[in-house]
Amino acid sequence: MKAVLFYNYGPPEVLQLKEVEKPVPKDNEVLLKIRAAAITMGDCEMRSPKIPSFTWFLARLYFGLRKPRLKILGSYLAGEVETVGAEVKSFKKGDQLFGISHRFGAFAEYICLSEKYVLSGMPSNMTFEEAAPVGLGLDSLHFLKKAGIKKEDTVLINGAGGGIGTYALQLAKYYGAKVTVVDSNDKLEMLRSLGADAVIDYQEGDFTKSGTTYDIVFDVVGALSHRRSVRLLNKNGRYISAIPLLSRLLPSLWVSWTTGKKMMTGLANPHKEDLDYLKDLIEAGHLKTVIERHYGLEEVAEAHRYIEKGEKKGNVVVKID
Ligand SMILES: NC(=O)c1ccc[n+]([C@@H]2O[C@H](COP(=O)([O-])OP(=O)(O)OC[C@H]3O[C@@H](n4cnc5c(N)ncnc54)[C@H](OP(=O)(O)O)[C@@H]3O)[C@@H](O)[C@H]2O)c1
Repeated sequence: MKAVLFYNYGPPEVLQLKEVEKPVPKDNEVLLKIRAAAITMGDCEMRSPKIPSFTWFLARLYFGLRKPRLKILGSYLAGEVETVGAEVKSFKKGDQLFGISHRFGAFAEYICLSEKYVLSGMPSNMTFEEAAPVGLGLDSLHFLKKAGIKKEDTVLINGAGGGIGTYALQLAKYYGAKVTVVDSNDKLEMLRSLGADAVIDYQEGDFTKSGTTYDIVFDVVGALSHRRSVRLLNKNGRYISAIPLLSRLLPSLWVSWTTGKKMMTGLANPHKEDLDYLKDLIEAGHLKTVIERHYGLEEVAEAHRYIEKGEKKGNVVVKID
């Protein structure tokens, strides 16, 4: 089968399309013929020689400190079951599934996944390409739930125009929140069309000085300094970041202990039940995937270059025929 492998951390050029052996499922696994996979900023960060934060250092301990131990990137995927192992009960040949691979490997024609992974039957109203990135919506759901989102909360999403943010905006609207989004100017119209109540171009001065405060600030890109984050919160406001930074730990604990405000971060912990929940929201028309570009497997390096330019609106997907 064809797969995109990398043997060293480095620029997008380290990604190479190769012919490798097709995997054989264990008794508890399904062999999925992958039809689409999301290419995310997280994949670019994992491929890059830079280690931007302590959390990424911990991720590298798992992924391989000096060289990648897992050689195929890609976590969010959709495809069709080709065969199942002898003990698999939940799925059968021909089932169309979407979800997350916890050990990467989605930039390939086939992958073996345990039936216990976060996988579910495809939403009836989505294509493989639309369904593949929905795992990023699970990450959004995790953070919004952790922040205790409820009806009529005022929510600010910083970095709303990308993979996580476009789902977070739609979910926050579904929960009945009033949502302000922050991103670069060329993404604001798309965000308005997804339901944003107010939009802010972060390149037009320091919006945290406007005096407006929020019940929840979801910082998808971790771009707000500690002081600016605290300034944006209501008296009992909650700040949550998708980027855990060790340097923020003590100041965040201090604010959480000494004021009514809460400063949180962490890693998303996706569950199968949440994927089923998102599937229901998708089928009811409350959640959709924004896709800006499709690439072929042979173009994954080009896709990484594009994502790293920071121009991506919503999601970029590799389509595997
Ligand atoms: N903690 C977890 O469990 C978890 C899970 C998944 C992902 N992540 C992390 O979450 C991060 C975001 O992922 P993603 O897939 O949503 O990335 P993405 O698709 O690149 O979206 C990020 C968005 O933020 C915007 N942005 C960049 N700098 C900004 C700034 N200073 N202020 C406001 N907006 C800014 C970008 O637009 P411009 O470039 O045009 O400015 C882009 O639209 C990644 O670093 C990923 O590793 C964490």
